[in-house]
Amino acid sequence: MSATFITATGTNIGKTFVAAGLIRHLRSVARPVNALKPVVTGFQPENAAASDPGVLLAALERPITPLEIERIAPWRFSAPVSPDLAARLENRTVDFEALLAFSRKSIETSAGTLLIEGIGGVMVPLDDTRTVLHWIVALNIPVVLVTGSYLGSLSHTLTSLDALRRRDIAIKALVVNETPDSTVPIADTMDTLNRFADQVPVLGLPRLPSVVAEHLTFVDLAALL
Ligand SMILES: Nc1ncnc2c1ncn2[C@@H]1O[C@H](COP(=O)(O)OP(=O)(O)OP(=O)(O)O)[C@@H](O)[C@H]1O
Ligand SMILES: [Mg+2]
Repeated sequence: MSATFITATGTNIGKTFVAAGLIRHLRSVARPVNALKPVVTGFQPENAAASDPGVLLAALERPITPLEIERIAPWRFSAPVSPDLAARLENRTVDFEALLAFSRKSIETSAGTLLIEGIGGVMVPLDDTRTVLHWIVALNIPVVLVTGSYLGSLSHTLTSLDALRRRDIAIKALVVNETPDSTVPIADTMDTLNRFADQVPVLGLPRLPSVVAEHLTFVDLAALL
């Protein structure tokens, strides 16, 4: 089985959209796939279908029930802030060792491809001392880095790539997800990132009306997993 961590330069960049597209594509070609969103903030049970675990479950064609949500997203917090703060507001913590154990068990037991969606960007704090990067390093699995085409994304992207490379994390692909109403054409962002990406494939994803499983970017990305 192969596991891939889906991370990004920040929040709201397109991790769930890319993961859902990949899931739908993999399922359409009968490749087994599972997905996790272990830590989620801003979670409202009454709006579960719109949450990240809800979107992933829909792509997996599994029911969006409390049990299914618990199975893929055990650490849920209601405040729409970073996990360390969201947990503190509920007098809880994200138990890092338990998070690793949960992730590793899923990696061992999932058939086919497992996608683990992180939270926010590469270095969002999970607790007082650890960030998402510690989680990726501990799991030692490859990543897909999702970024945008907004003005400023170049520095965010190169900083994220550098942080991952310094820890010897394999980067399977860099997905440049088109930012709506950006002053920068996505093609220019991709040209520049291609010059800095070294061997990492750079894939562009335009704005789509919905998660279209057969879009070429999802096909290309699936071939890299
Ligand atoms: N290429 C795209 N075409 C159309 N809509 C998109 C695209 N990429 C992302 N979106 C939409 O933009 C919003 C943010 O994307 P998404 O939820 O995937 O980001 P995220 O990185 O997973 O955010 P979070 O940090 O909250 O997990 C969502 O409403 C999503 O459906
Ligand atoms: Mg998401």
